[in-house]
Amino acid sequence: MLNESIRFLDDRLYVDNVELGALGDQFGTPLYVYSLRRIAANYRAIAAAFAPLGAEIHFSAKSNGNLAVLETLVKEGAGIDAVSAGEAYRALRAGCAPAKIVFAGVGKTFAELQWAVEHGLGWFNVENELELEYLNRIASQTGTRIRAALRLNPDVTANTHPYIATGHGAAKFGLTADVVDAVLARRSSYPHVDITGLHLHIGSQLGDTQATGKAVDTAVAIAKQHDGITTLNVGGGLPLAYDPHSQLPSPHEFMDVLAQRAAGFQLLLEPGRSISGDAGVLLTTVLYVKHQGGQRIVIADGSMTELLRPALYGAKHAIVPVAARGESISPAQIVGPVCESSDVLGRDVPLPALAPGDLLAVLDAGAYGMVMASNYNARVRPAEIVIETDGSTVRVARRRETWDDLLLCEV
Ligand SMILES: Cc1ncc(COP(=O)(O)O)c(C=O)c1O
Repeated sequence: MLNESIRFLDDRLYVDNVELGALGDQFGTPLYVYSLRRIAANYRAIAAAFAPLGAEIHFSAKSNGNLAVLETLVKEGAGIDAVSAGEAYRALRAGCAPAKIVFAGVGKTFAELQWAVEHGLGWFNVENELELEYLNRIASQTGTRIRAALRLNPDVTANTHPYIATGHGAAKFGLTADVVDAVLARRSSYPHVDITGLHLHIGSQLGDTQATGKAVDTAVAIAKQHDGITTLNVGGGLPLAYDPHSQLPSPHEFMDVLAQRAAGFQLLLEPGRSISGDAGVLLTTVLYVKHQGGQRIVIADGSMTELLRPALYGAKHAIVPVAARGESISPAQIVGPVCESSDVLGRDVPLPALAPGDLLAVLDAGAYGMVMASNYNARVRPAEIVIETDGSTVRVARRRETWDDLLLCEV
């Protein structure tokens, strides 16, 4: 969706004070462009919404791990939520204090856990009993104490796409309530680990607050049965309006749900998409246009290797020309060059006549975009450009890969 940072001025699409068409000409396409100003503003709005509860915000690096993005948020005061040691490494490289990194993940290896303990990460969100044993062993060997939260699988069905719902009983994530209860009852078996929190993340792009309410009730009921559970990490999931007509709950509505249920607990949040999503666009150039099967097929240089969400989840992103025109609008299928039928960036997108060389912007591509980019079909991953918080300074935050990069790891 367009917003204060990504908007049309005199029929030209801008990111803050920088015209996107000019960036496409200068850096080539496909190209990610992020507004750091928008990222900071989104963080501030969420932090302000949850400030009455004293909640600590940890940006979910899985949504966008670019160092410039992480650095911006760290400077704003955010912690980082990492779902692998690699993401925690990025967070450290971005200047995040180790104590402000929460380490989640359903399958952390022993080596990752060891590294994370050695680097003093702040919280371990534990999803397996064996993981707890590993942590206890590492802590006793290194003479450290570890702060852990058990990730509860609250068995609720979030109102979202099935691929991004994580809190239902059949999901691989977390530990069921009976296991959490049992582990807490024998906490003394893990003398080097302070289990003082419960963690939840029931899904991404949550369409309402009901499942969150139920999940938090379950967590609070368990927490109250055991001494010393002082922290509730309620994960991410704050939704982003990809469609301007969608009716989505606001951060304030989630705050209300927590305020009513989790009073007295230290609260942690892990928003990703709601901070980075609408701050980024993917620029792509039209390569060919053909009419077949009763459709207008626009083949662009951007594809599922840059933005996987449409192919992976059937996600819909608005796609607009960087130079608006008043011509008649008709549906177009925006597809990429990858040899897969699922390589479609947008179906039935209302667009004017397009010709080779025209630039299109895929909106709301700042979350789960570049982080999922791949080299499939031996395509090089795109550059990432940031517009600094002054709104005008353009910086290459990550250069475009080269064919030599494709061969870099082959021996
Ligand atoms: C554990 C955890 N926390 C936070 C997030 C961020 O979610 P979102 O980007 O929807 O805020 C995710 C995403 O799936 C996650 O798995």
